[in-house]
Amino acid sequence: MALSWSHSVLVAKDMDQMKDFYTRVLGFQITDEGPIPDDRYIVFLSQQADEHHQLGLIGPRENDGPPTTLAHLAFRVETMAELRGFIKKVEEEGVGYRPTSHGNTWSIYFQDPEGNGIEIFHNTPWHVQQPQGKIWDTSLEDAELLAWTECTFKNEPLFGPRMDYEAQREIELSKI
Ligand SMILES: [Fe+2]
Repeated sequence: MALSWSHSVLVAKDMDQMKDFYTRVLGFQITDEGPIPDDRYIVFLSQQADEHHQLGLIGPRENDGPPTTLAHLAFRVETMAELRGFIKKVEEEGVGYRPTSHGNTWSIYFQDPEGNGIEIFHNTPWHVQQPQGKIWDTSLEDAELLAWTECTFKNEPLFGPRMDYEAQREIELSKI
């Protein structure tokens, strides 16, 4: 069960300044952005066609909030069996987790022993405009989960095959 590094999400105080820095100075492209629960906003940035985001920025961050800016670190696994293996491990550790599907992933979120957010996910075959998030039932068989996911997200904007999205991203990245 190998984890591939995928992305980090930071909580930002000044979203405009952070977006400007990561796009203008470091060359990221914004792949999606939009509102999320609790009156927050998320921006996704990437320089790789096969990563919807390598970096996420969530705002606003309160000035008197916790010192860390880390929302979560995310790791990808290549098979559903591996994801289920990690779910089993987390359950055996007695660590609470939240299964969330973003339409383009089946993710679980939990915390390490010091409270840092961790996401482990497996890609679905689809892309869909972000942000998105629905709780998924980890007891569903793979085929049932696939059908539930397609049914749940198929009417959301830009729903379509992941391969098509990544091909389009390659074109966008070649314009840099
Ligand atoms: Fe994430």
